[in-house]
Amino acid sequence: MSKSGYQTVLPLLADSGSTSGSVYSADRIVQAPALELPEVLNPNTRLKMDGLEFLSLLPESSIPVGFLDPQYRGVLEKLSYGNEGKSRGRRRSALEQMNEDKIGQFILGIDRVLIPSGHLFLWVDKFHLCQGVRDWFHGTKLDIVDLLTWDKGTFGMGYRTRRRAEYCAVLQKDPRKAKGVWKAHNIPDVVQETVSQRDHPHAKPVELQGALLAAVSHEGDYVIDPAAGSFSVLEAAQLRGRNFLGCDING
Ligand SMILES: C[S@@+](CC[C@H](N)C(=O)[O-])C[C@H]1O[C@@H](n2cnc3c(N)ncnc32)[C@H](O)[C@@H]1O
Repeated sequence: MSKSGYQTVLPLLADSGSTSGSVYSADRIVQAPALELPEVLNPNTRLKMDGLEFLSLLPESSIPVGFLDPQYRGVLEKLSYGNEGKSRGRRRSALEQMNEDKIGQFILGIDRVLIPSGHLFLWVDKFHLCQGVRDWFHGTKLDIVDLLTWDKGTFGMGYRTRRRAEYCAVLQKDPRKAKGVWKAHNIPDVVQETVSQRDHPHAKPVELQGALLAAVSHEGDYVIDPAAGSFSVLEAAQLRGRNFLGCDING
């Protein structure tokens, strides 16, 4: 168990640079520039701020990796079961929701601040995955290069099948390449990690996010999350010796 009650079954995700006998490169030759931050952006803290304002304060082409886990309207609509409005449902409904236009603005802001070949890990639910999310990053330098399935190991809600997974689309900014950029080659594309949602109804897996951000950054690099919820990415960044910059409208 990690300090926030996250339980993991991820033996494969320890840092491993070994690529002996494979065609993969474990080197990362991409470097982020030194970052000069306005005073209001205090690293490694839980900032209470609008995510779009946060992104506008970051210098262009300065950040190697970001996460975005939108507060989907669609999910709230699709998940309006009989018990919504009680317990977890009430906490979900209290969160500020993002429409498609707002999600597009967040992605545009992230595209602006990512360095060339930088990565965005975008959490997507199954409804949006089926409908497609390409419109959200139309007109940016980002495109999808991979997809992971997070098996939560718990039995969720659903009128037909019961939800047990969420998805993380891996987007990369131009020029898109893995060699010399993505340095870990031990991350499977289906990962089970159990997460306590005591603190936030949408908390995401810390160890998986730690493995992903470590694959595309150097120690000491900055990782951003403009809609951070429980600040699981802050915890992941600290576990991996990276700096975190992020906020949530609710703090
Ligand atoms: C799906 S949750 C993120 C969960 C997070 N990934 C975690 O692991 O806990 C989305 C969050 O976006 C926040 N949010 C909604 N609109 C926002 C905005 N304009 N700026 C910043 N945060 C916002 C909500 O308060 C909510 O906590």
